[in-house]
Amino acid sequence: MSNRKPLMAGNWKMNLDWKQGLALVEELGEQLASVDTSKVETVVLPPFVDIRTVQTAVEAGKLPIAYGAQDISAHESGAYTGEVSGSMLAALGATYVTVGHSERRQYHGEDEQVTGAKVKAAFAAGLVPILCVGEPLEERQAGRHVEYTLAQLEGGIEGISAEQAKSIVIAYEPVWAIGTGEVATPDDAQEVCKAIRDSLRRLHGDEVAEAVRVLYGGSVKSSNVGELMDKADVDGALVGGASLKAEEFARIAGYQG
Ligand code: 13P
Repeated sequence: MSNRKPLMAGNWKMNLDWKQGLALVEELGEQLASVDTSKVETVVLPPFVDIRTVQTAVEAGKLPIAYGAQDISAHESGAYTGEVSGSMLAALGATYVTVGHSERRQYHGEDEQVTGAKVKAAFAAGLVPILCVGEPLEERQAGRHVEYTLAQLEGGIEGISAEQAKSIVIAYEPVWAIGTGEVATPDDAQEVCKAIRDSLRRLHGDEVAEAVRVLYGGSVKSSNVGELMDKADVDGALVGGASLKAEEFARIAGYQG
């Protein structure tokens, strides 16, 4: 058994306006009453425009929910129209931010250089990056899924300190499993999550490798989270669709029983 606290993060993607987001987070707070939240960290990642509302609801209700954003600017401030900085997110009490989600890589052309800069911007603002990595179908079919994913990992964390590496969260999300209902088998998830931890060990040593939480993402539901969590190197889940329903996401957070 590791000492790593499981982390269940809900990536709302571009769903739910602030009123709908408020309803979801309040209902999630109620549903989590039946979950031992000392044993699992529950995180929501709403669209930017919902974050202030989520902050207010979490603080007012003292809800056992942390929150963050789905993206961050690589820049600190200034003439970057449409972007949101790490310090703006930190000022809203955000603690996490996903970086390099496959949808950012695919639709916004974010490469390793951009991803690496965003990881550094997150740390500079005191946020914990959830660095997303994972292969498309062709790479898996060609048997290159591990090397492809590790190249994204190593590019994304290049130049960070061991201290920073220790707090980062890595999410392994095979692209073919995202939103398709086709979840990776627990063994497939374990293979790549272990390879990620081994790579962290080579780069930053045992202490970092043992501390970092590696999540699996891609069609996670309450019915499959338990078998994924049974694997030694899977420390949580990054959940899309199933995080939009309070009861289902609370079940995922309460997977232990
Ligand atoms: P789904 O859970 O909807 O497959 O999405 C996964 C994901 O992309 C989370 O970031």
